[in-house]
Amino acid sequence: MRIVLLGPPGAGKGTQADILVKKLLVPHISTGDMFRAAISHDTELGREAKSYMDKGQLVPDEVTVGIIRDRISQSDCREGFLLDGFPRTLAQAEALAGLLEEMNISLDAVINISVPLDRLIDRLTGRRMCRKCGTIYHLLYNAPEVENICDACGGDLFQRDDDKEETVKSRLDVYSAQTAPLIDYYREAGLLHDVNGDQPINAVLAELGAALGQNWS
Ligand code: AP5
Ligand code: MG
Ligand code: ZN
Repeated sequence: MRIVLLGPPGAGKGTQADILVKKLLVPHISTGDMFRAAISHDTELGREAKSYMDKGQLVPDEVTVGIIRDRISQSDCREGFLLDGFPRTLAQAEALAGLLEEMNISLDAVINISVPLDRLIDRLTGRRMCRKCGTIYHLLYNAPEVENICDACGGDLFQRDDDKEETVKSRLDVYSAQTAPLIDYYREAGLLHDVNGDQPINAVLAELGAALGQNWS
C-alpha cells in the first residue's frame, strides 16, 4: 500500500506511523526524521535543513522533493510506503504526483489526522523522543514507565529543538497557510479519509485501520 499521512504538527502522524508500518510491512518515510538524521550527522543537507527547522519554517521544496525522489526509488519501497510529513505544500504534492506517474504507480489513500489546533501546543511541548531508537513519548499522555528512559531500548529521552513554545506557534501557522490546503487537494482527488486524532492512540489506530480496510481493533 502507498499511503500519505497528513495532519498538523503534533497530530500523531509519527506515533501512528510507527505502529502502522509494523502491520503493513512497508517503510516509514518521514522527511522530518530524515532531516533530523542529517542534522545529527552534521551533513550539508542537515545544516541547510536546520536553518529552516529552528525557525519553524519549511525546508525548500526542491530539497525535500529531491530526498523523497531518492528514497521512494529504493528497492524496499517496491511493495509500498508510508509517507509521514510529506507532501506539505501544493508544489510538493504536484511533484509527488509526477514522480509516481514516472514510476507507473499511484497512491492508495491519504489519511488526514485532525486535531483541534488548541490541543496541539500541549502535545508538542510535552513530547519527548528516544535519542537511540526514536520512540515517541509524552510526559502526560504517553509517559515511559521510568522517567526519561525509553521503554523499548533503555535510551535517554530528549526534547526536540523545535518543540519550544515559540517555534511550535510558527509551525502551526505554517501548517495552516501551506499544508492545510492539501486536505481539499486530496479530497478532490478522491483519496482522502478523515480520522479523528483527538482520542486515545488505540482509538485513532482503529479508525485508521477501518479507513484502510483493515480490522485491527
Ligand atoms: P516533522 O518532524 O514532520 O514535524 P511535524 O509535521 O511538525 O509533526 P510532528 O512530528 O511534530 O508531529 P506528529 O504528527 O508526528 O506527532 P507525534 O506522533 O510525534 O517536521 C519537522 C520540521 O522538518 C518541519 O517543521 C520542517 O521544518 C521540516 N520538514 C519536514 N518535512 C518537510 C516537508 N515535507 N517540507 C518542508 N519541510 C519539512 O505526536 C506528538 C505528541 O503527541 C507526542 O508526544 C505523542 O506521544 C502525543 N500523542 C500522539 N497521539 C496522541 C493521542 N492520540 N492522544 C494524546 N497524545 C498523543
Ligand atoms: Mg512526526
Ligand atoms: Zn528507545
